[in-house]
Amino acid sequence: MAIPDDVALADARERARSAETLDELKELLDGFDGCNLKITAKHTVFGDGPKTADLMFIGEAPGRDEDMAGVPFVGRSGQLLNRMLEAIGLEREAVRVTNTVPWRPPGNRAPTLAETQICLPFVQRQIELVRPKIVVCLGSPSAKAILGSAEGILRMRGKWQSYSFDLAADATIPAIAMLHPAYLLRQAAQKRLAWRDLLALKAKLDELR
Ligand code: URA
Repeated sequence: MAIPDDVALADARERARSAETLDELKELLDGFDGCNLKITAKHTVFGDGPKTADLMFIGEAPGRDEDMAGVPFVGRSGQLLNRMLEAIGLEREAVRVTNTVPWRPPGNRAPTLAETQICLPFVQRQIELVRPKIVVCLGSPSAKAILGSAEGILRMRGKWQSYSFDLAADATIPAIAMLHPAYLLRQAAQKRLAWRDLLALKAKLDELR
């Protein structure tokens, strides 16, 4: 099955929508068998950080360290993310962090389109429940899934966009895509772009607060 059929997708959306709290949403995900990634993963890596937060970061998928810990962004990428936050005066504990898919794909392969789509309603619901002032997509797969952007990350990054809530159609919040910390670990020269985006993020946050 290349793309989840409409019935499976509608079922995932209905389940996600029915969650009134983050705890309920986590419980629903734990009991959701519509995504094969769950079979090989050790943990459901739901989200980390406060239940409501001004900033919400969304990565791609848990890696090995995250799968073992059951917590997103705890490995090398997570440590860099923490330092990036510190650089603009933010504590990791103050921000919400999650991924587009909550289960580690085997061998760290990229999640397929079908896997991403079936998990999307759950991350969308998480955004709705956390109600951040800003959504930050880390890397291209997250930006594509969450913001529906078709551009490459180097074009997309640093531009303010609007994220529309699924439930309340009139509610939108500012969203931005940034380079993924894993990419920055491989391409240290691109950290200057990340720094620019972090400053823009900090300025926007100060404005909204
Ligand atoms: N990369 C991600 O996209 N998410 C994590 O949680 C860890 C690494």
